[in-house]
Amino acid sequence: MGIKEITREKLNAAEFIKEKIKEISSGVGNSLAINALSGGVDSSTVTMLGHKALGNRLKTYFINNGIMRQNEPEQIVSVFKKLGIPVEIVDAQERFFSALKGITDPEEKREAITQAFYRDVFGQLVKKSGAKYLLQGTILTDVDETVAGIKRQHNVFMQLGIDPQEAFGYKIIEPLAELRKDGVRKIAEALGLPKSIYNRMPFPGPALAARVIGGVTPEKIEIVRLTTAITEEELTSSGAFQYMAILHQDKVTGIRNGKRDFGLQIELRCWDSLDARVATPTRLSYEILDKLANRIITEVPGVVSVTYNITKKPPSTIEAV
Ligand code: XMP
Repeated sequence: MGIKEITREKLNAAEFIKEKIKEISSGVGNSLAINALSGGVDSSTVTMLGHKALGNRLKTYFINNGIMRQNEPEQIVSVFKKLGIPVEIVDAQERFFSALKGITDPEEKREAITQAFYRDVFGQLVKKSGAKYLLQGTILTDVDETVAGIKRQHNVFMQLGIDPQEAFGYKIIEPLAELRKDGVRKIAEALGLPKSIYNRMPFPGPALAARVIGGVTPEKIEIVRLTTAITEEELTSSGAFQYMAILHQDKVTGIRNGKRDFGLQIELRCWDSLDARVATPTRLSYEILDKLANRIITEVPGVVSVTYNITKKPPSTIEAV
């Protein structure tokens, strides 16, 4: 809806950076802005652009929502500390788990996370800091999929007719809205972010809650967090675009130590893709799949089944929720 795409090929990184810094400084004027850093390439790029444009008039937070991966808050904060950018961790774990309590529908879960982020957590941070603007890393694929009604991405408002100023009390600036993921990586590299960031695998805003089918509880998140750590460890060398572990809602009959064990099912997904619009399952070797399954059933309590998704996007989507 009105956003013009800039493809990676057409993108002139130096010019884009100069232009966006100008846009952010004139947009924010003499006010203050805040942004949330998750460590993903989009929010990291916005953090760098924002700091170049606003210096200490931009306050960057890492929202610990309880649904991030192992040690993620500390790791990301330390990467940015080395770059000279201070990041404050906000502990919002309880708020997110209580917002998610009892919700099983995928779109309702996304909506609960959106409200917890934008209304509750940012609403308070804006009040506390006196900021008038939120900078965020929405990209064109987020907008496309939300507008098409495929999946409500957590960070899309204007295109849905929602005015953030009215709904949450602050304005949102989206410097990356004309880019796809491959374009953002090019800008991130040009901004001097480390490879661990500009090459970082995509990770969704709703975090591990997008990897639990059905109700989200701290216990289920812990299972998927542990499984994710194993999956990422085993698949980093695969060169794939994105890989993940998903905890299913239905249990299945298994057998352990000669006894019936009605246990958990994990689905693994590993994707080849350029920009997440279409994707194909990676042809992982059977040896890798076998090793993954063995590690998961021995290291993650309660799991009796591990499967691998072999469906392309579309009709699958990359995340299960
Ligand atoms: P899907 O599952 O829609 O994912 O095929 C496409 C890409 O977007 C990521 N994703 C999200 N990113 N907010 C985001 O910023 C979200 O709500 C969200 N949901 C999915 C997903 O990981 C994939 O790379």
